[in-house]
Amino acid sequence: MSHKIQTLSGYIHEYQKSVLEPEAFWSRIAESFHWRKSWDKTLEWDFEGPDVKWFVNGKLNITENIFERYLYTKGDTPAIIWEPNDPNETNRIVTYRELYEMTNQFCNALQSQGVGKGDRVIIYMPMVPEAAVAMLACARIGAIHSVVFAGFSSSSLADRINDCEAKMVLTSDGNFRGAKQIDVKAVVDEALEKCSCVEKVIVLNRTGQEVTMEEGRDIWWHHAIEGQPKEFKAVEVDSEDMLFILYTSGSTGKPKGVVHTTGGYMVYAQYSFENVFQYTQGDVYWCTADIGWITGHSYIVYGPLLSGATTLMFEGVPTFPHAGRFWEICDKYEVNQFYTAPTAIRALQAHGLEPVEPYSLQSLKVIGSVGEPINEEAWHWYHDHIGKGNCPLVDTWWQTETGGIMVSALAGITPNKPAHASLPLPGIQPIIVDADGKELTGNNVEGNLCIKFPWPSILRTTYGDHEKCKNVYFSTYKGMYFTGDGAKRDHDGYLRILGRVDDVINVSGHRMGTAEVENAINEHPKVIESAVVGYPHDVKGQGIYAYVICDMSGRTEESLKDEIKDTVRKIIGPIAKPDVVQIVPGLPKTRSGKIMRRILRKVASKDLSNLGDTSTLLNPEVVDDIIKGAGL
Ligand code: WTA
Repeated sequence: MSHKIQTLSGYIHEYQKSVLEPEAFWSRIAESFHWRKSWDKTLEWDFEGPDVKWFVNGKLNITENIFERYLYTKGDTPAIIWEPNDPNETNRIVTYRELYEMTNQFCNALQSQGVGKGDRVIIYMPMVPEAAVAMLACARIGAIHSVVFAGFSSSSLADRINDCEAKMVLTSDGNFRGAKQIDVKAVVDEALEKCSCVEKVIVLNRTGQEVTMEEGRDIWWHHAIEGQPKEFKAVEVDSEDMLFILYTSGSTGKPKGVVHTTGGYMVYAQYSFENVFQYTQGDVYWCTADIGWITGHSYIVYGPLLSGATTLMFEGVPTFPHAGRFWEICDKYEVNQFYTAPTAIRALQAHGLEPVEPYSLQSLKVIGSVGEPINEEAWHWYHDHIGKGNCPLVDTWWQTETGGIMVSALAGITPNKPAHASLPLPGIQPIIVDADGKELTGNNVEGNLCIKFPWPSILRTTYGDHEKCKNVYFSTYKGMYFTGDGAKRDHDGYLRILGRVDDVINVSGHRMGTAEVENAINEHPKVIESAVVGYPHDVKGQGIYAYVICDMSGRTEESLKDEIKDTVRKIIGPIAKPDVVQIVPGLPKTRSGKIMRRILRKVASKDLSNLGDTSTLLNPEVVDDIIKGAGL
């Protein structure tokens, strides 16, 4: 049974019910799923622990809610439409039945390679249907997947493998990305030199390039599934058993493994997908994210497939072989819902209207945005030229930790407002608090965004470090989940997200911890100290600006800057490479030795107004040097 909200008054009614009687509300929605055993209690929670459990003691397998649920009615319906990087390569249409058989076969392969319930499996793969098969097969055997974006470096990959002590890595020989071909397997080989936990590696033949296969450890995908039966009985798991771990950057230290469990995540991914995008059976839905991010998990794979939808998966990049590729694909498959990131919109906007003009885009009914605040200019361009002025634009605010969309218009149901994520989904209770944690009620208020009541897909812990989860999300404000974002409730009561208030920067919709980038920079032997801040960037939203104190002997400034950028690329990956490196004689510090980032942010933004009082600094003279060095 569908729980799709159809009208504005329907939304208001559902929202009120969800706040007044959250348990009754979610239990009614969860009842439309297939459970092997129903839950004893809908919700147990305590934000102090934190300890949150949904659908307590319920037993299920999430993939039964995709396959067994839709096989007989939708066996021949496309589950995944796959568009390759190179438009001249043949595309693939994978039906629900085919996806079911591919998944089952891979379940059998995983089991015969020794993976079982509770084991961690790393997925480091290109955007091909097998990547979805890998995730679903893990879920079906009760193993825990952790997808790592295939653009991360070997050392980022190794950190993640070691953190969750993965037993297996699923990867490919190489990847096609635009005009580039990437040596994926070589990256895995390098990572595994630092990981003793991995027993087997399954390698998909994607590019056909030469790779080294380590005897006894590495096995080709097509060999692993050879002769494996296309049936597999899903393994029963508990509602609160882990479904996946997804690593994401925070203000401090290394990326954290955000843990999502099965029952609640399933219910919320499906419910939010269907309602935000107003998906109707038969529609073709396309989300351009990569499966390495939460958006790919919830809104390429789980949300759409749990809804029996047709989800389009694109291997390539927006500008290859030309800047009209997205729109060409929309016309080719008559895409009805299109979901992308502001950074992609801004990058395409820079190419002008010529690449858009050849395409009618008339199939589009809904367009969406995710990952960072969408500025008004990009909003209007997207709305006018892609949505042709008549598609609702859903600006969806959420996070890796929230599992699903939290604040967004429901397409065509609740009103659109440029650059505003707008209203919370049913079941979501956002509040704005001041620095002391006092709730700011009413309209026209601005502060930090918290959520005061659990929703089904809230993170449960950070893998292997529950204290960290408590400290990062549940300690800043007592009894609330703190998002790390600033927000404003405008005079009409619509929420506008203002961006991160912590030391996380959002580069092209990707989260980067400043400390993480600094640690990478500090690995360069000539670097003495560094400080990284974000600054406004026309296309990326935010760029990475690094101030570095160096030993300059034997180097020119230019060569050293290049080496520093390259060090970050090697240690984290290309997405973390600083846009600007400025070599400085010192960093502004308070008397207690803390770097005054506020000043560094101002200089990076080329805004010298209100620099504030610098006389209390330990080294006020350094501020002038930094300003001069920045050419201001
Ligand atoms: C930001 C991505 C404004 C925000 C789903 C959040 C947004 C972080 C929006 C999470 C939006 C995401 N408007 N800001 N519509 N969507 N953000 O974990 O700062 O990769 O905290 O999840 O992206 O990024 P993450």
